[in-house]
Amino acid sequence: MRLEGKVALVTGSSQGIGQGIVVRLAQEGADVVINYRSHPEGAEETLAKVQATGGRCYMAQRSKSQGYTIQADLGNVNEIRQLIAESIAYFGKLDILVNNAGLEKHAPFWEVTEADYDAIMNVNLKGVFFTTQAFVQHLIATQRSGKIINISSVHEELSFPNFTAYCASKGGMKMLTRNLAVELGSFGITINNVAPGAIETPINIKLLNDPQKLSALLRNIPLGRLGQPQDVASLVAFLASSDAGYVTGSTFFVDGGLLWNYQEQ
Ligand code: BGC
Repeated sequence: MRLEGKVALVTGSSQGIGQGIVVRLAQEGADVVINYRSHPEGAEETLAKVQATGGRCYMAQRSKSQGYTIQADLGNVNEIRQLIAESIAYFGKLDILVNNAGLEKHAPFWEVTEADYDAIMNVNLKGVFFTTQAFVQHLIATQRSGKIINISSVHEELSFPNFTAYCASKGGMKMLTRNLAVELGSFGITINNVAPGAIETPINIKLLNDPQKLSALLRNIPLGRLGQPQDVASLVAFLASSDAGYVTGSTFFVDGGLLWNYQEQ
């Protein structure tokens, strides 16, 4: 129980890697804020899993009928600020921010629309920027240290044809982290990237359902399997804990060796 007494917000935690992270942080004793944009049933599922761990948990609800509205679309800065404010109002503080929400769209570069570009950059980069800013403002105002973990991708380094906007957002996230490690160090705030490879989640459902593409991908993974959300969550739990107190400004890959497995056909 490395995170007892800590409060963590995990964006985009109604499914996939985000859900795995929430459950793991709760198992480590943290109170957790679950955020979702369009899958309330997924958020309920995450909540149920957290409750099974015995932790307290607050689900950021958008339903007016329940008397709560928290803007939780990470592509919208006003909603971001409201999400942070409501999290703090409920639990009294935040200690850990996991910027997990992200999206990708497949298209050749010459066909990418402005709307798709904006959707990707607004969530994956602008959203991370302003969520982190609101979190840091809270830490500075309350004179406390804190931990920021960004869920990046092997594609902050590795080319991914037909996903240029996604790669640009993750490359931007790499430098955001390097820069903020310096700027926030004197406040005792650490920031690191976790860079997953091919993890079995809804984001790559098309690939998972295409046997040919899947076996080509598996040939590139030295460990010979796709990752699971728990593989990512255990690294996040470490980075969120005091065990990682001297770790900042770095990227940690959790990819079964994919990034470094050059294969000449
Ligand atoms: C992407 C997946 C992809 C994986 C490995 C991730 O960042 O979201 O779609 O399968 O990288 O290329």
